[in-house]
Amino acid sequence: MEEKNGDDEDCDDTPSMTTVSRHCFGDDSETPSFCISIIENMKEDYGLFVWPCSVVLAEYVWQQKHRFSGATVVELGAGTSLPGLVAAKLGARVTLTDNSTRLEVLDNMRRVCDLNKLECNVLGLTWGVWDLPIFSLQPTIILGADVLYDSNAFDDLFATVAFLLQNSPGSIFVTSYHNRSGHHLIEFLMGKWGLKCLKLLDGFSFLPSDKASVLSGNIQLAEITLISR
Ligand SMILES: C[S@@+](CC[C@H](N)C(=O)[O-])C[C@H]1O[C@@H](n2cnc3c(N)ncnc32)[C@H](O)[C@@H]1O
Repeated sequence: MEEKNGDDEDCDDTPSMTTVSRHCFGDDSETPSFCISIIENMKEDYGLFVWPCSVVLAEYVWQQKHRFSGATVVELGAGTSLPGLVAAKLGARVTLTDNSTRLEVLDNMRRVCDLNKLECNVLGLTWGVWDLPIFSLQPTIILGADVLYDSNAFDDLFATVAFLLQNSPGSIFVTSYHNRSGHHLIEFLMGKWGLKCLKLLDGFSFLPSDKASVLSGNIQLAEITLISR
């Protein structure tokens, strides 16, 4: 990942913390197929930073590109939205979502889409909240990078994921997360919400070495679906 400083138009006294990072994808690191530019802001927490799980999930989307061309994708807690933007670049119809109260995150998503000349829908979607637009979402693939970080929000997240999976039969939730305390809570919640794990991978098992060398932690990638699909 290559970063460069940018400027911003803040009126306060603090120095600009806005940067643009570039993330490239290809079968050969010397000649990438494409790169995505992401606007980040270190002053904000969570939503305006490319978290390592996002790099892992975006790489997985690239490597699974045959599944994304023509797919309908919803990214939950998308923040800077790297995985969703890779899916859009691969020909998916993408809706990027984040907490509907985080207007600065939703605005940044629109800017990042423009910057990369990609057309995605941007939608405020708070987990566990049933606003009207969620009922018309019928994703074939749901993405979520680092959305399992606050156990107080797990139930709301799983409620939203279970709803979307039910609303779109045959769909799948692909998520990357830091495995900090084992899988017990996630397994419990999957059972509670009628979900099962189809695939569980070590995030570092498929990352190219140049990306793996700048990341750390125990990052897992799971594909989750309905038990009764
Ligand atoms: C750790 S950040 C991950 C951001 C991005 N997916 C990444 O990996 O770089 C968690 C994201 O989830 C969003 N989020 C947290 N709670 C949420 C909620 N209740 N509903 C919707 N989004 C939420 C945050 O705004 C933030 O963008």
